[in-house]
Amino acid sequence: MALYSDKVMDHFRNPRNVGAMENADGIGEVGNAKCGDIMKIYLKIENDVIVDAKFETFGCGSAIASSSMATELIKGHPVSDALALTNKAVVEALDGLPTHKIHCSVLAEEAIKLALQDYYEKNGIAYDRSLFPDCENCAHCHDH
Ligand code: FES
Repeated sequence: MALYSDKVMDHFRNPRNVGAMENADGIGEVGNAKCGDIMKIYLKIENDVIVDAKFETFGCGSAIASSSMATELIKGHPVSDALALTNKAVVEALDGLPTHKIHCSVLAEEAIKLALQDYYEKNGIAYDRSLFPDCENCAHCHDH
């Protein structure tokens, strides 16, 4: 069996939504200290809906495919859906990732969450902090 699914290869070779976004409403950037990969997600939000999502990922093929798929999954959806998006859902949408590549999909979930948190902060919208990664005490970026 091939290590990577056709969907992973497709989103790696032809990533959707690549690039920076001018005047983004929320930006989230995460890194994984172990592999050195960095993912940045930009969101445009209108009336509580993600009207556009873009990404810049300096990382492995699985991280690129995860960012591409994650942005596709949230575009056109309400903020609440984006907030609920798990790395597991990204992996499922990609028809799986090898076990040692699961952490790449975690970057997508976290970058989206941070972009939403940035949006809330910038707009003075009250939100539940417990739904967001606690960067100071979180091991995600440091321990994969
Ligand atoms: Fe680090 Fe994929 S190897 S994100």
